Parts: sequence; C-alpha cells; structure tokens
Amino acid sequence: MQVQERYTQAITRKYPEQVVIAVAKDPQGKYNPITLGWTMITSHQPPMMAIAVGHNRYSKEAIETSGEFVIAFPSSSMAEAALFYGTKSGRDTDKFKEYPIAAEPAVEVDSLLLTDAVANFECKLEAKLVTGDHMLYVGRIVASHVNADPSVKRLYTLGPGYKMGAVRPE
Ligand SMILES: Cc1cc2nc3c(=O)[nH]c(=O)nc-3n(C[C@H](O)[C@H](O)[C@H](O)COP(=O)(O)O)c2cc1C
Repeated sequence: MQVQERYTQAITRKYPEQVVIAVAKDPQGKYNPITLGWTMITSHQPPMMAIAVGHNRYSKEAIETSGEFVIAFPSSSMAEAALFYGTKSGRDTDKFKEYPIAAEPAVEVDSLLLTDAVANFECKLEAKLVTGDHMLYVGRIVASHVNADPSVKRLYTLGPGYKMGAVRPE
C-alpha cells in the first residue's frame, strides 16, 4: 500500500545515496573539491556522467570557467574528508590545504585525481541545464582510473544528517 506524503518527507526514503567528490580548478588556479550526492551516469557510448550543483556553490564558478572536472567515487576511509569538502566553501577556504588528502594530477584535464578513491573519472563539460535550484552539468568522460586495490569499499550516505558509511557491491 502507498500513502500519499509531502515530497520533503517522501524523499527522506532515498538512502543509501551514493557520494562523489567533484574537483574543478577555480579562476585563481586553486583545485576545489565539492561533495555531491546528486549524480548519475547518463551515457555509456560515449561515456558521460552528470552532477547537480547548487547555484550558490563556489564549484559552479570553477566548473563553468574551467570547463572540466574530475568525479571521484570516494572510499569509506574518505568519509571525514567528504564531510569537510561538503560543508566548507571554496569561496573562503582552500579545502585541500585545510583538509589535505592524497591526490595526483589528472591526465587529460587540469584537475586532480583522489588517490584513495574507488575510481576517478576525468570529464570535459559537455552540456549544462538549469534545473530549479541546481545546475545539471554533464561531463564527457575522457579518462577513467580505478584503485589498484579492488577490495576498497565505496562511500555512501546512509541516512539524513550526512550519516556516512560503506557499501561494497558484489
Ligand atoms: C554527503 C553530501 C552530499 C551533498 N550533495 C550535494 C549535491 O548533490 N549538490 C550540491 O550542490 N551540494 C551538495 N552538498 C553540499 C555541498 O557539498 C556544499 O554546499 C559545499 O560546501 C559546496 O562547496 P563549494 O562552495 O566549494 O562549491 C552535499 C554535501 C554532503 C556532505
């Protein structure tokens, strides 16, 4: 049986939700990470992924000016970093300086790969769309990377209030 419910209540049933960290270079040359739950694969051939970024996020400027970004699938060991990058703004913080994590240069775009992530996808901005209070950015994947250790678990948000934990697909 289904019970009609307000959207704000019904949407709290969405968990677990995948977490990604997108990294884009800002106009000052600083690499800025943002934690995102709203993300999806949109095409396999060619490979593409989308992220939804709020209009007030500093990352919007970084993505639109650089035209490229990395989407990292963080591992469970990166929960604290994901929370930091998802609660501080690059507008007034150098997030990688204040909460450093292992990173390495991307190969095809001017951004960073997160070394301990389960996987990293290098994206060129292919399309954008205003969707209410967020921008939808679609990236064409130009290079993909995986963690050399296949047993590393992926980070998910397990419940409201950014309660995070690991889920590992079989
Ligand atoms: C688990 C988690 C998921 C989040 N999902 C999104 C999201 O999908 N879209 C978004 O715009 N912000 C999301 N946020 C909030 C941003 O990460 C946060 O506002 C961040 O401080 C913006 O950084 P920036 O101003 O440097 O871009 C999320 C935060 C957390 C912790």
